[in-house]
Amino acid sequence: MNVILLGPPGAGKGTQAKLLEEQRGLRQLSTGDMLRAAIAQGTELGRKVEAIMARGELVPDQDVVDIIAERIQAEDCANGFILDGFPRNVAQAKALDEMLERLGLRLDAVIELGVDEGILVSRIEKRASETAGGPRADDNAEALKKRLAVYNEQTAPVAAYYRARGVLKTVDGMADVESVNRQIGQVLDLAA
Ligand code: AP5
Repeated sequence: MNVILLGPPGAGKGTQAKLLEEQRGLRQLSTGDMLRAAIAQGTELGRKVEAIMARGELVPDQDVVDIIAERIQAEDCANGFILDGFPRNVAQAKALDEMLERLGLRLDAVIELGVDEGILVSRIEKRASETAGGPRADDNAEALKKRLAVYNEQTAPVAAYYRARGVLKTVDGMADVESVNRQIGQVLDLAA
């Protein structure tokens, strides 16, 4: 089963993707985590994207499209994958369509986590204050403002893209973690 989790910064995409990995044997593919790993390892890609991410802007489409194209073909995705943080604009969604078609794979569900902006800000502030070793480079007021603006301008149209196709399901991302997980489970059971 192949799933997209959509939602603004702090919506709970990573939290829920990790639960689904354990519960359903799907592989979490978080472009944000992969890019942060590239930065930590000091790779060419990491050096290219570090400042862009710290500002809260999107990295170039081709970089993330290449990463995802490689990862979804890997053996650990044979049972299915959860895209967490990708696609992030309509160009990436179209690139994903082409990729899936080429590989003979299908998308089983696109799930949007709906969360009000005030709650997102307080979740990120809480995470920033609790992260061992210091906050993420983009978990500060200025970068978060930019991340939210980028979400509204570029990623919200991705939800509309899938809604127009009739495949988008929205769950209440403001509920507690277990309730959100239950709602997602119901959507996936229906899609199976
Ligand atoms: P990315 O890493 O994807 O970050 P994000 O979208 O800003 O999302 P977060 O990781 O902050 O939040 P989340 O929704 O995963 O929530 P989480 O579960 O952590 O992207 C970072 C950057 O990388 C981008 O800005 C861009 O530069 C680049 N990038 C990545 N993908 C890209 C792409 N495709 N194209 C171009 N650039 C790309 O939860 C947040 C907090 O809330 C946690 O503390 C958690 O414990 C808590 N929480 C979660 N759920 C609940 C709940 N139900 N109730 C209470 N608290 C909760």
